[in-house]
Amino acid sequence: MNIPELIYTFKAHFGMQPTLFFRAPGRVNLLGEHVDYNKGSVLPAAIDRAVYLAATPNNSRIVQLYASDIGAEISFSLERLDQKKDLSGHPLPGWALYPAGVSWALQKGGMAIQGMQAVYSSDVPIGAGLSSSAAIEMVFAVAWQTLGGWAAERMTLAQLCQKAENEYVGVACGLMDQFASAHGVAGHALYFDTRSLDWEPIPLPQDTVLVVADSGVRRSLTDSAYNERRAACEKAVEILRQDLPHIQSLRDVSPAEFNKFHQNLPPTVRQRAEHIIDEIERVHSAVTALRKEDKETFGALMFAGHSSLRDLYGVSTPELDSLVEIAREQTGCIGARLTGAGFGGCTINLVEEANADDFIQGLQDGYRSNTGRRTKVYLCKASQGASVIEYRG
Ligand code: GLA
Repeated sequence: MNIPELIYTFKAHFGMQPTLFFRAPGRVNLLGEHVDYNKGSVLPAAIDRAVYLAATPNNSRIVQLYASDIGAEISFSLERLDQKKDLSGHPLPGWALYPAGVSWALQKGGMAIQGMQAVYSSDVPIGAGLSSSAAIEMVFAVAWQTLGGWAAERMTLAQLCQKAENEYVGVACGLMDQFASAHGVAGHALYFDTRSLDWEPIPLPQDTVLVVADSGVRRSLTDSAYNERRAACEKAVEILRQDLPHIQSLRDVSPAEFNKFHQNLPPTVRQRAEHIIDEIERVHSAVTALRKEDKETFGALMFAGHSSLRDLYGVSTPELDSLVEIAREQTGCIGARLTGAGFGGCTINLVEEANADDFIQGLQDGYRSNTGRRTKVYLCKASQGASVIEYRG
């Protein structure tokens, strides 16, 4: 939905003109999967698919929202967020927990927020591993910041959005998605150390494009499977601490130390930990490769990351594997892997721009003949992070 359409919907719904407009993007992750909750470094990029929000402050403590993609409306009070109920006393529906959770977390963080009328719409595919939830959280955070007129670091906003998702919505995600939505830089991947919170934009290779391919399989088991992976990593730290008492997370274990002490871990826990320790190394090597403009090495690391997610971390699916194998055969494919938590969702492909059309055709044809399914493909650009949109209609 573009801004004029958003204005039209806002007027139709609230009978007046919206005064402010905001945008917050989804993200892909190029490398460093399941690394954020192990405190290592990750390499996401914000994409040019985003949530758009139009708002008008209403000088009250009531938030009235219209989610135009699903045609659903909610009103809630900023005074009774703990109850997770709407103004009529009904439990907030799942989709409303995200904006309500952000208002809850911002207030917990000491930020003054106010009531508003708002309409929002997204072109980030839902449940596809492209962080549609983080984009919704971030667009509301930036809207309330602008309405409140207070200053805050982008990292603080990202952390408060993560708090909303962890404690209000109840999903135990790491910080990567909210970080990427808040900090995106056009044409760049974001090298983000999830412990020190240092980050740096790294240019993506010249004349390449990001192609996202949706396997069409949705992440129905994500929450429990995601939590199980987190628990396996924590178990590994607990056991490895017998030999390495200084470690706080898997990030603190070097590959050499892991080789020396891994025999004490149960087989599945060992595999999960091995993925994390290798994946952290892959992120560092990938950044070195990008700095040297060495696309081949970067692409090989993406393929290796996928194999590790499939064989060691157990979060791929036959459909995602098929997309990666078909991509590998196409001219101009530099690297391919699943992106996001896995268990379905999308692959990310780094492709030579000159070959992009043929690549997409080859991927679609191959996927249909291998699986009988269609893949939706999105040609994406690495984009800037969340922002206020200056719109003068
Ligand atoms: C989801 C979570 C992130 C991260 C990825 C896996 O997207 O929200 O915090 O853990 O999975 O890398």
